[in-house]
Amino acid sequence: MTVEEGETRGGSSIPPTRKGMGFEATIRGWVGRIIYGTFKGINSPRPEDFSEFRVFDSALELAESFPGVREPPMPVSQIVDEFSGLRSELRLRYQSIRPAYPSNWAIEEGTSLLVYAVVRRLKPEKVLETGVANGHSSFFILRALESNGRGRLFSVDIDSAAGSLLSPRERANWRLLILPKSGRKAALREFVQGMRPADMFLHDSNHTYHWQMFEFELARQHLRSGGYIMTDDAELSFAFIDFAKKYRLSPMFLEDRRKKFGVVQV
Ligand SMILES: C[S@@+](CC[C@H](N)C(=O)[O-])C[C@H]1O[C@@H](n2cnc3c(N)ncnc32)[C@H](O)[C@@H]1O
Repeated sequence: MTVEEGETRGGSSIPPTRKGMGFEATIRGWVGRIIYGTFKGINSPRPEDFSEFRVFDSALELAESFPGVREPPMPVSQIVDEFSGLRSELRLRYQSIRPAYPSNWAIEEGTSLLVYAVVRRLKPEKVLETGVANGHSSFFILRALESNGRGRLFSVDIDSAAGSLLSPRERANWRLLILPKSGRKAALREFVQGMRPADMFLHDSNHTYHWQMFEFELARQHLRSGGYIMTDDAELSFAFIDFAKKYRLSPMFLEDRRKKFGVVQV
């Protein structure tokens, strides 16, 4: 099994546990590090790896510090009111469908508010998203676009069951590509080329290092200048940090309950 095809849970790479501290384990650790270090992905950043970046624990504070917001910026109180209504609506949706994916695969509460606020404030024309699952993140993006009065969401997944939370209302501004089993990179490249330039990209698909890096590089090529790359589960691999460092970008992070969400302007 290659690292790119690495074991995944909800699109998340499962970091290995560190066990055994004896001599043999130390040697095994070093050998493993040399082999896996080549491929990265097997190492996950620790909290201190984020210390050189701005890490927020409030979604609204992070949303307020976004550059490129259309003037006048939408008041936070309006965003919060709209979001509360949508959150209640989504809860009812969950009860009315049989979700194909566990609810903890979805972006978390603070992240949902951040994504909604960012789309409302930046008013993008085209948003690209990889990793749909039940459609939690897609729901907030699509409803923010609807309230903006313009914009479309282009989503990608590998499973045709993706998006069951979305009603015809949201699907009006939605295009979904299901990637084939083989030739996934080529299919994604073609899709992204066809929709360019995107204003915003949200990664929440396969969180192995190499796949993430492939998506970030692809997005960077096809985003408009000053566009945004966002990622859920930023703590699962070094890809987002390495990508930001490679291009001397200044990422910001939201510390949500279980996961870190990263945002960077390219
Ligand atoms: C963590 S879930 C996405 C959650 C979603 N963003 C939400 O907020 O509900 C990961 C999704 O990525 C999909 N996936 C896994 N590998 C993928 C790939 N290489 N390209 C696109 N989607 C992928 C899975 O089928 C799954 O639906």
